[in-house]
Amino acid sequence: MQGTAIAQPNIALIKYWGKRDIDRNLPAVGSISITLRELHTRMHVELDEALDADVLTVNDEPDENMLPRLSACLDRVAGAGRPRARIASTCNFPIAAGLASSASSFAALTVAAAAAAGKSFDVARLASLAGQASGSAARSLLGGFVELENVGDDIACRSLCDAGDWPLTVVVAITESGPKAVGSTEAMEISRRTSPFYSSWVDQQAEDLDTARAAIATRDFEKLAAIAEHNCLKMHSIMWASRPPMVYWNAATMRCLQTVRQLQGQGKGVFFTIDAGPQVKAVCLPEHAAAVEAALRATAGVVDIMTTGLGEGAHLENQG
Ligand code: PMV
Repeated sequence: MQGTAIAQPNIALIKYWGKRDIDRNLPAVGSISITLRELHTRMHVELDEALDADVLTVNDEPDENMLPRLSACLDRVAGAGRPRARIASTCNFPIAAGLASSASSFAALTVAAAAAAGKSFDVARLASLAGQASGSAARSLLGGFVELENVGDDIACRSLCDAGDWPLTVVVAITESGPKAVGSTEAMEISRRTSPFYSSWVDQQAEDLDTARAAIATRDFEKLAAIAEHNCLKMHSIMWASRPPMVYWNAATMRCLQTVRQLQGQGKGVFFTIDAGPQVKAVCLPEHAAAVEAALRATAGVVDIMTTGLGEGAHLENQG
């Protein structure tokens, strides 16, 4: 009655921001992401009839805060009448800081819990279950370039291009390692209710998805760069114009954008994207990764750098 799974976070190039159904956690818009390789969360789930309550450790420390969300996810995967679980999560990158730790955590948890409960769900079902816990987690079930679509009352994820077929590099510039001030669910709701730009964001998303899909199909880096930066800045404009405003950036975030602009001016194949946090993800052609990494490392306020390629989707390590 146990399973261990590993999942990588993913970074959205065309972002998910806003929900059309809060209860079922259905996104208001489709999204396109890349699954990373070197960053990961490993989840061990052990169902045990002798336990009175679920217990969670994160990086070997007891954790009460995340437990209710993880327990709810286990109920959806294994059924509410399941035995209680011992859950151990280990993560090799900062948690809840805009680095998509919830995506890798819930993708790994879903796969590990299904194995522990002896359920043989297909990837579509696992993605749907992971997505109910964290919208972006559904995309980490698959590797490479992944599109998440709204289909009827559910979501569907599909691979647009394998990791090895367009091996881009992602340089993550960490400008602050603490947890974010406002969680994404709350921030999305504030945006939906109060931002004057929210409805045009939803209306324009299909066009941005079409552009990005076409760029990926033809491996057109410049085209992908332009639409990904545009979509990212549009998402942050919604947040900035919300009431209260939500600004996840700090001064170093802005300096990293200037560094990326300078690199582009030197002809380097690189673009930026930023999620609900102050970190800057620079997506680049592998031949320019060393220059991008050096330039971001030299940018004032950058406290750490993580460089990664694109990787595979979540998978089971062992079951018993
Ligand atoms: O899945 P959540 O609730 O962590 O929301 C993800 C939101 C963004 O990271 C900002 C965008 C995205 O598509 O991943």
